Amino acid sequence: MSKITAFGTYVPERIVDNHYFEEIIDTNDEWITSRTGIKTRRFSKDGEYTSDLSVKAVENLMANSGKDVSDVDFIVVCTTSPDQPMPNAASRVQYKLGIKNAGCNDIYAACAGFVYGLQMAHGFVNSGVYKKVLVIGAETLTKITDMEDRTSCILFGDGAGAALVEPDEQEHFMAFNSGTNGDLGHDLYLSHKKNSINGVGINPNSKIVQNGRSVFKWAVGNIPNKVRELAEKAGLTLDDIDYIVPHSANLRIIEAIAKDLNYPMDRIPESVTEFGNTSSASIPLAIAKAERNGKIKKGDTLLLIGFGGGLTFAGAILKW
Ligand code: COA
Repeated sequence: MSKITAFGTYVPERIVDNHYFEEIIDTNDEWITSRTGIKTRRFSKDGEYTSDLSVKAVENLMANSGKDVSDVDFIVVCTTSPDQPMPNAASRVQYKLGIKNAGCNDIYAACAGFVYGLQMAHGFVNSGVYKKVLVIGAETLTKITDMEDRTSCILFGDGAGAALVEPDEQEHFMAFNSGTNGDLGHDLYLSHKKNSINGVGINPNSKIVQNGRSVFKWAVGNIPNKVRELAEKAGLTLDDIDYIVPHSANLRIIEAIAKDLNYPMDRIPESVTEFGNTSSASIPLAIAKAERNGKIKKGDTLLLIGFGGGLTFAGAILKW
């Protein structure tokens, strides 16, 4: 059986507010705030990459918990913006932290990444394959954002979160689910070479491109039912869940999910207003913020649900 035994996050220093974009594209603070809820986000520095943010998140994990990570067996970095395709980000983290002997793999599942990472870590630990697994959700999305595309550049930000999963006498993970609509793959993509998905022409410009309306509709139309299914799988009602932590893509998506579920917004931690959409880092950043604000506490039951490019989603219910 397993649990998360330590946790830490990190965001780059540079704070960028909505007015920054008024100088480079045709937009304004009012439009961005009313359509997305975003007020600020963080930009990584030149030369600061996903593995650097990951390392800082793990250093904070160690400082928060007093845990040592030098003996972890496996490192998973969940990211859409690795330093480079090869070597993977997990191997860079292994090297930079001087971890001697760890398997290293990246999960490439966009905004669902961190929850997929927890699912994988749980499988490794509960099966006895590995004992100590580091799951990191980290992104430098601003390095792969088209700053001339006003429908997307206002959304994204950089950040990282790290969780250590270890064996325990009690099971802290209560249920998982996941699913994918590859038929909508062309609605949110980053392509280096290929110029079509599902027979639909796409722009291989090595930047994130999206059909915002389609992604919005898919998330709002599907995620509430996936949340209900997951709670049922764990034998719980939504009243038994202390906090639902969805991917922080857009405050309007979160509000629509809350309304559909008839679940109070003050029990849905978010990171999007302060940090923008940080993809696989958004759920850890939302949890950290809720902990800082005295909301999420040890022993609370959390339902996490990540969703995004694929289009794919992954959920988990766990005792924090
Ligand atoms: N500033 C001002 N106007 C903008 C703008 C910006 N930054 N971006 C787009 N617009 C304009 C559009 O051109 C359009 O103008 P038109 O009516 O003259 O054609 C108008 O605003 C409305 O565009 P629309 O795309 O319908 O807006 P929207 O309400 O759907 O909001 C998003 C756009 C991107 C904020 C929204 O669709 C969204 O958040 N989608 C989900 C995206 C997401 O979360 N992606 C990651 C998933 S993990």
